[in-house]
Amino acid sequence: MQVEILGNADTITEQNGALVIKTPQAEARVMVYSPTIIRICISKNFDKTDSSFAVIEKPLDKFTYQKLTDTIEVSTSALKLVINKDPLRFNFYTADGNPLSGDDARFGTIWQAERVINYRKLYADEKFIGLGEKAGDLNRRGCNYVNWNTDASMHTITTDPLYKTFPFFIGLHSGLTYGLFFDNTHKSYFDFGATTDEQMSWFGADGGDMNYYFFGAQNIRNILEDYTWLTGRMEMPPLWSLGYQQCRWSYMSADEVLAIALKFREKNIPADVIYCDIDYMDDYKIFTWNKETFPDPKGMIAKLKAIDFRLVTIVDPGIKIDEEYPEYNEGVANNYFATYPNGELFTASVWPGRCHFPDFLNEEAREWWGASFKALTDPGVEGFWNDMNEPAAWGQNMPWLVKFGEKFMPEIRNVYGMQMARATYNGTKRILNNKRPFILTRAAYAGTQRYSAVWTGDNAATDEHMLFGQRLVNSLGLTGMSLTGVDIGGFMGNPTPQLMVRWNSLGVYTPMFRNHAAKGMVMREPWQWGEENEQIIKKDIEQRYKLLPYIYSGFYQSAQTGLPLSRTLAIDYTADENVFDVSYQNQFLFGDSILVAPVISTAETVDVYLPADDWYRLSNDEKYTGSQVVNVQCPLTDLPVFVKAGAIIPMQSIIQSTNEHGDGILFVHIWKGDQPNEFIYYEDDGLSYDYQKGAYYKRTLVFDPQKKKLIFSAVEGTYPSKYSKIQLVWHGFEEVGNIEVENNSQPFTIPY
Ligand code: GLC
Repeated sequence: MQVEILGNADTITEQNGALVIKTPQAEARVMVYSPTIIRICISKNFDKTDSSFAVIEKPLDKFTYQKLTDTIEVSTSALKLVINKDPLRFNFYTADGNPLSGDDARFGTIWQAERVINYRKLYADEKFIGLGEKAGDLNRRGCNYVNWNTDASMHTITTDPLYKTFPFFIGLHSGLTYGLFFDNTHKSYFDFGATTDEQMSWFGADGGDMNYYFFGAQNIRNILEDYTWLTGRMEMPPLWSLGYQQCRWSYMSADEVLAIALKFREKNIPADVIYCDIDYMDDYKIFTWNKETFPDPKGMIAKLKAIDFRLVTIVDPGIKIDEEYPEYNEGVANNYFATYPNGELFTASVWPGRCHFPDFLNEEAREWWGASFKALTDPGVEGFWNDMNEPAAWGQNMPWLVKFGEKFMPEIRNVYGMQMARATYNGTKRILNNKRPFILTRAAYAGTQRYSAVWTGDNAATDEHMLFGQRLVNSLGLTGMSLTGVDIGGFMGNPTPQLMVRWNSLGVYTPMFRNHAAKGMVMREPWQWGEENEQIIKKDIEQRYKLLPYIYSGFYQSAQTGLPLSRTLAIDYTADENVFDVSYQNQFLFGDSILVAPVISTAETVDVYLPADDWYRLSNDEKYTGSQVVNVQCPLTDLPVFVKAGAIIPMQSIIQSTNEHGDGILFVHIWKGDQPNEFIYYEDDGLSYDYQKGAYYKRTLVFDPQKKKLIFSAVEGTYPSKYSKIQLVWHGFEEVGNIEVENNSQPFTIPY
């Protein structure tokens, strides 16, 4: 196999806003998307459509560059790209000339047959974070990874690849930050110094173009904002999806589903969602119900709704080969299924036995799939769980000659799940007519946040999986995914009661709070763990419901800025080496002001690293100075959770579900601090898209310790808050009593 190395620039022209540089091996295009985003695409064979599954923005029409003797310099207000002409190499600098990242001078971009690789300079102190759902530590330096969406059942905490592909990482060195998104759907590879004797980092793919976006903002928040500007942001999720979710493979009948839901209400344990896993279907045929065990889905869902429960049902891509089954017949008649190159339909086996697989790359097939959800929405389902979409079948690797339209499996596999989620989202959104659907998917590619939440697949009931799951959630947050979760309690195996309690307490601070278990495992509901544990679990779920005003505002922030709800400390404390220390790397901020330190179930005390800032323990207001490791008690009743000094955290009284109106009081908690702070409070009806037409309630709350004031800005938006009163709750302040005021939409100030 030959190695071709990108050589000298022959011609340099400008075409439609792109700088086009031709070399004997390939053509490179440079496009500027914003002052902090520059794209390089090097191709042997430019595809005229220049399409992307991830990117939703277009490049600028014009940008500034200068042709010099040996180089061309592209300049924006934030970045300088120095393009070396002979040989063609790309090097990025800050506008004031600090090197950020660039090609290895010897190799840069190379090809070996179809495979394309970019070799890059590695800085001695360079760290790497990101890539989404990936094994290993927060700092990925010295590790290598493969992106190839895989049904990773029975995975361990070192398994790679897992279910999803997010070819986006952030590099940190010399006090500088940059991001790099390799938009290529083929099987791809990232090596952060692992196999090059720490001389280079490299990434590449089995096919396609060397097509990457370089992000040059000088802090991680802004890099995430840019990345999610480019690839899109999540919509506001339905509020009910943020409540407690009870799942199992499977509640086997309508009677069982109802009995479980009712028991939550009898026991006054708050919950919003119950799931039907695959056994609700007739013979695992998608869009059907088992007539014996679920004889009246509409009646069942009406009964669930009457006690404020929503139902989420699972769908898998495999369509059973069965001539009595309309979906099968329609799919065959309209060529909606993936084929072999000779036109035969591709067949593999999954739960229903032999199946065909929808070609979600085909818009018509997506429309058809989306419209088929009427079988679920008519009886009243509002949440749609997309599973097995890596795509999975018995036997992992579907043949590479399977065709989706004009493209083959090697190019499609990593986006198949995302396109299924897209079809599900668009279809159900249309049918539900202004109601927000909740979509959950297991496989994903960059940009999936526009359509769906994700969970991390089939984990295990162990302490190490609990901690690993948190790391995955934090890392998914670095790739635009904010509504993320893990199977709380562990999918395979049975947790000890202590692990169940501990994991549930961490679930309170997980963006999606879902308890799930595999078939054959012991029942997992909160009351299965003994009276004492049930009370702890109940109290923790109540805490989740109290925090919902804060959590919902946090999702508003994700929808506006791309900042995730669960944030590795690396986002806000980038320069602090301790946050990368493996002892503290699982810690995260939940929203702006809550720091959570995950801890194994058997520990009685734990070392927590508190970064700069002062902190208060949430459970007892004990104050700690930051920039130090503290050893704290961590009984099962009290996960180590801390609040940043100066924090503003809106809460509400306990409700049993998000459908309940509650007592109409918004509790605004303030923790004493000497730095000013602000919080953007957001509320809307939690259900519809009316917020996109202005029906929201938004105001900024400012804590000003210098003036000793709490300032509420005027309300923006037309939605009337469901809280008629605001009660202020002060923490760490001496002699300030609780104050209650009317929830007035005019600005007001509260001195203290
Ligand atoms: C897969 C899913 C799991 C689900 C099971 C049955 O293993 O990851 O969550 O319960 O299939 O549908």
